[in-house]
Amino acid sequence: MLKRTHNCGQLRIEDADKNVILSGWVDSYRDHGNLVFIDLRDREGITQLVFNPEAQPQMHKLSRQLRCEWVIAASGKVRPRGEGLVNPKLPTGEIEVLIDKLEVLNSAETPPFELDNAEDVAEETRLKYRYIDLRRPVMQNRLRVRHKVTKVARDFFDSKGFWEIETPFLGKSTPEGARDFLVPSRLYSGNFYALPQSPQLFKQVLMVSGVDKYFQIVRCFRDEDPRADRQAEFTQIDVEMSFVDSDDVISIHEQLIAKIWKEILGVDVKLPLRRMTYQQSMDDYGIDRPDLRFDMKLKNISDIARDCQFKVFTDTIQKGGIVKGLCAPGGGVKFSRSDIEKTFTKVAADFGAKGLAWFKVVKNEQGDIDLSSNLVKFFTPEQRKAIIEKFSANADDLILLIADKEAAANKALAPLRLKVGKDLGLIDEKAYELLWVIDFPLFEWNEKEKRYDSLHHPFTAPVPEDIPKLDTDPANIRSQAYDIIVNGSEIGGGSVRIHQPDIQAKVFDLLKITKQQAQDRFGFFLQALKFGAPPHGGIAFGLDRLVMFLTGTDNIRDVIAFPKTQKGQCLLTDAPSGVEQAQLDELNLRVQTHH
Ligand code: AMO
Ligand code: AMP
Repeated sequence: MLKRTHNCGQLRIEDADKNVILSGWVDSYRDHGNLVFIDLRDREGITQLVFNPEAQPQMHKLSRQLRCEWVIAASGKVRPRGEGLVNPKLPTGEIEVLIDKLEVLNSAETPPFELDNAEDVAEETRLKYRYIDLRRPVMQNRLRVRHKVTKVARDFFDSKGFWEIETPFLGKSTPEGARDFLVPSRLYSGNFYALPQSPQLFKQVLMVSGVDKYFQIVRCFRDEDPRADRQAEFTQIDVEMSFVDSDDVISIHEQLIAKIWKEILGVDVKLPLRRMTYQQSMDDYGIDRPDLRFDMKLKNISDIARDCQFKVFTDTIQKGGIVKGLCAPGGGVKFSRSDIEKTFTKVAADFGAKGLAWFKVVKNEQGDIDLSSNLVKFFTPEQRKAIIEKFSANADDLILLIADKEAAANKALAPLRLKVGKDLGLIDEKAYELLWVIDFPLFEWNEKEKRYDSLHHPFTAPVPEDIPKLDTDPANIRSQAYDIIVNGSEIGGGSVRIHQPDIQAKVFDLLKITKQQAQDRFGFFLQALKFGAPPHGGIAFGLDRLVMFLTGTDNIRDVIAFPKTQKGQCLLTDAPSGVEQAQLDELNLRVQTHH
């Protein structure tokens, strides 16, 4: 077999006259009768090969049999391309290789789709033939970036004294709050391992073990419905540190992020990153992961709306709700009434809003700015003026308002803000707006179950001065949790942990986890806390989401070599699938079919 001397992205004009051997896949062939041109592709790039019947009649003849995706090796001499034939789009575009020997290493069936057109092919086809899909340069680049991110992270953590330690996959149910994937035990019939939703408890135990600084690039398993930025199995860059406060964790990890941005994108991220409290983020953006690529803050106008004549507003406020909304600059002329009523009202309704009120900001006959809509009659001139001032609105703007309970209004306004921002072209697609959201509430009230839920997870520590509120005012305890957000997406989150068994017990109490349940689920961990647990804290980044940003895709499957579909299937291998009866027997399992 001819052994390659170079890869297909390597040769330049300086290499002219060198004898080289290349191998790879036939990307395209053009048969000009007298000359055959082959674009040869490997993961590093594409090089043009030329077969000349006068120079090498036999090789020329053989080359005419080649088809797309055949695997070949070829030797020949590098030469400059002819006048006017340079391809400036290819790094190798100034040269070609005149082939004297061709070896066909393998033929290939006609691929189910052309690599160049793969973006238009159904994703199911791409996933079924993933090995072909992954040959595409854009996919290879995603794999390469993913590799580089983990390499940067490993080097970074190593340089800061962290150890990479593996934790079990076959374990006990962990507390991230999603559904577990279960694995039946053969040796302990009727018992199950749970695949880890994260290594949370193991990494905390490692701190009790004196490991001090731990990290792991680790698969996590959560049996939730996959979404555009979610997979049932995904990867975290998982970290835990001892003797730290939240500032320490934040500071070291924003250095890591800056390093990744610099090495992968060549972008300088200015440190320290800005920090925003959860409350501020909810007030201004209606969500705890604000997209700061554009401004357009939400405003609460309840104090004005309280006294208007529009019953929807006054009733809502009387029942403890709010009236909140946004001002779309230029939206009054840019958007038609049907845009507002079809598009925006629908977005709001999709996220649960009962209605959407709107005002156009206009100049009246006197040249003053005023509001106009079917609702103006319910507002006095003073109230209209106050609304305009609240939003700092200008003529031609559009004000959109939702009246509802605060949480419900925010839930609809946050996606509405994004939609309006996008439609107005306010989002700079090349920008990266990073921030930390801090001071989350420790708990949120679960109305259905009549108990508190952890906003992060049950091992998150309260802010020290709020600890007394565990007994008096749990709803208003802030936690030492932090999330890192890029362009409105959460790429990581963590917290300082509870390291005192008595505080941990109180938190379980508020979560209505009984002593027995706590003992059954986390007994080993509560025990560990009693044997000298140092103060500690950590974080986990979603590696897949990070790579999505770094490669500019909004589909998480694009950054995973072998992902699952939205319906949780691997189309390459056809998992999940049935198993042999003998396997079930061995596990003492019986499958019941529901009709
Ligand atoms: P959390 O549950 O916030 O924290 O997860 C950390 C980060 O992992 C990413 N992520 C996901 N990515 C893809 N698909 C999913 N289904 C998915 N779920 C989460 C997100 C998220 O920010 N043990 C804690 C961390 C800690 O406290 O140290 C944890 O797992 O980017
Ligand atoms: P209706 O009284 O239902 O005809 O609604 C009159 C106007 O008020 C319409 O523009 C509705 O979209 C709007 N509206 C109704 N409910 C709400 C609400 N909860 N928040 C904001 N606007 C609303």
